[in-house]
Amino acid sequence: MKRTLVLFLTLAVGLVLSAGLMAQKFKNLALTPPMGWNSWNCFGPNINEELIKEIADAMVSTGMRDAGYVYLVIDDGWQWKRDEEGNIIPNPKKFPHGMKALADYVHSKGLKFGIYSDAGRKTCQGLPGSRGYEYQDARTYAGWGVDYLKYDWCYHGKQNAEASYKLMRDALYRAGRPIVFSICEWGTTKPWTWAKDIGHLWRTTEDIQDCWDCVNEWGGMGWTLILDKQVGLESYAGPGHWNDPDMLEVGNGGMTLNEYRAHFSMWCMLAAPLMAGNDIRKMTAEIKEILLNREVIAVDQDPLGRQGIKLTDIGDYEIWAKELAGGELAVALLNRGTVPVNAVLRWGYFLRKFKMRGVYKIRDLWKHKFVGTTSRKLKVKVPPHDVIMLRLVKAR
Ligand code: GLA
Repeated sequence: MKRTLVLFLTLAVGLVLSAGLMAQKFKNLALTPPMGWNSWNCFGPNINEELIKEIADAMVSTGMRDAGYVYLVIDDGWQWKRDEEGNIIPNPKKFPHGMKALADYVHSKGLKFGIYSDAGRKTCQGLPGSRGYEYQDARTYAGWGVDYLKYDWCYHGKQNAEASYKLMRDALYRAGRPIVFSICEWGTTKPWTWAKDIGHLWRTTEDIQDCWDCVNEWGGMGWTLILDKQVGLESYAGPGHWNDPDMLEVGNGGMTLNEYRAHFSMWCMLAAPLMAGNDIRKMTAEIKEILLNREVIAVDQDPLGRQGIKLTDIGDYEIWAKELAGGELAVALLNRGTVPVNAVLRWGYFLRKFKMRGVYKIRDLWKHKFVGTTSRKLKVKVPPHDVIMLRLVKAR
């Protein structure tokens, strides 16, 4: 009897410890916001093996991978049906060699492979969801070599969101392969209040549209409106758990270059996951310059993991700040209006607010040059629908 009890207790402690180790292993997967490419914004469900391989090649040849965009994620539209044993089968017309072969190809390029499913019975495209098959699907994904799972919320009926995402998280833990878990519940049940230990990132809002401030009939919206909805969520983000204002629209054709520059800058100020959503096989030099701006990316990927806050909102002119490691600061001046804004920045306010001491050099992250120091005021003109992004760098 005693021996059975000891055995039972040892087993129980072992299980708790290994669950803790697994949780830690998963947590460490996204200490900075995940970066990559996702098929949805540009291709919708029209995806196939050839396209994905070409995108993988382009992620390498354009320098995207080396700039940090490592996750290549296939969104909705890859599934076909379940076989008699319940295994999920990819659409054989689109993916004739199956997902394992494709994952191997993606891995051979030094990239990581991501896939999409849904917590409900069906995906948003009406294809099989994972409801009732969570453990089986997690095992399948692990077997294919999946490194990232985006998990959607269509056809969830009366399911409880937290329980549904926890179930898949546990299934992923059990499958044993480290997989970034991207919760795509659109902010419906305030996932920032419950998802910290469940997923690495959670969508805060409805689907982004390729526009400045449009709204469509089912709730999709332009990026400036999504930006507004991030205010107040700052304290929920940090290393291993991020607010996700949705994937990037940069380069998809609906906005001007300065609008895309502003969109990208503000996503980096938010410490948002950076999932490019354009056809990177055909990027113009100007779009490349935006997505590959390493100084701006460094603000997003800063190891302190702080989400930027809105400091000032004077009608169409906003000032945002993001604390960075080493006591530095990123500052974005956003002009949402249609006429230029002449701004004068006096640095005392910033230095006091963020308890910064001494003199800082001011770096313009789009011009790639130093434009002054905090001992003098800075005068700048912010063009309409554009941004000026600065970094206060410790003068040594
Ligand atoms: C939802 C998600 C999108 C995309 C589509 C796919 O709308 O929010 O990001 O994954 O489903 O059908």
